[in-house]
Amino acid sequence: MATSLKNKDIINTKELSVEEINLIMETAAKYERIMDEGGRLLNMAGKVLCTFFYEPSTRTRLSFETAMLRLGGQVVSVAAATTSSSAKKGETVFDTGKMVQAYSDIAVIRHPVVGSAQELADGSDVPVINGGDGAGQHPTQSLLDMYTILKEKGKIEGLTIALAGDLRNGRTVHSLSLLLSRFGVKFYFVSPKALAMPSEITDELRANDVDITETEDMLDAVPNCDVLYMTRIQGERFDDPAEYEKYCNAYIVTMNTVQAAKEGMIVMHPLPRVNEIAVDVDMYGGAAYFRQAANGVPVRMALLTLVTGQE
Ligand code: NCD
Repeated sequence: MATSLKNKDIINTKELSVEEINLIMETAAKYERIMDEGGRLLNMAGKVLCTFFYEPSTRTRLSFETAMLRLGGQVVSVAAATTSSSAKKGETVFDTGKMVQAYSDIAVIRHPVVGSAQELADGSDVPVINGGDGAGQHPTQSLLDMYTILKEKGKIEGLTIALAGDLRNGRTVHSLSLLLSRFGVKFYFVSPKALAMPSEITDELRANDVDITETEDMLDAVPNCDVLYMTRIQGERFDDPAEYEKYCNAYIVTMNTVQAAKEGMIVMHPLPRVNEIAVDVDMYGGAAYFRQAANGVPVRMALLTLVTGQE
């Protein structure tokens, strides 16, 4: 049977098969090619996307909305949903799901609570995409990260990938490590001990024989890795501001860092960056983070069409 993602909710990268992931990559590449050639796509004409964002976002919301518009579809959007939607009046995310299905063909949600995207999906018959659930997962970011690595390095298998920064609270590294682990990579997990990758994830990766080196020193990883994936210390997830202050300067990539790198190493970051990457590193050819953000559009176009059966 041909692989199909029709009606699938995209909540967690663990729930995607290798065939489904490959289909998303191929569909994104196809759309990118068509757009590069100046072509127009109308796959989502007559369809409405609802975006519900209970946490701040620049790239995820705008690139999903751009993706929908570039496919000829339309968008209804609630930014700042905590204060501007009926959540403020006490409505549950499950009940919001009932509304999403009444008003739109597909929804994207970002919410501070782990599991909330699944709750919206439980309440809704239309496909729901997780745009980030607290410190849980951010699957569409990981898919665009994988797409970026494929474009920049030409392959995934055999690469050594360093994930650095706040691995405890960063949802992007949770979903990305689980996604890439299926494609034959080795990992360095670089973090202060207190911000290490959660053991549910390391246990699962090790059970699947994934090669992981955990270290506090970024320079252990830099000479050996093909991809250095930096993350922001997630200030909003710390109860104690002093604790955040302790870690907020833990890792800073400078030109000295990239000079110590393995030849061809790329630097990625889901953005926003605070101080993890010095601005002069932007001139380094392997600084891939702005290209990475741009890749969000074709990858999210692929997701929108595949889960609505409009590809
Ligand atoms: C990330 C997020 O929201 O998890 N941002 C994004 O979607 N590109 C990373 C972050 O906020 O640190």
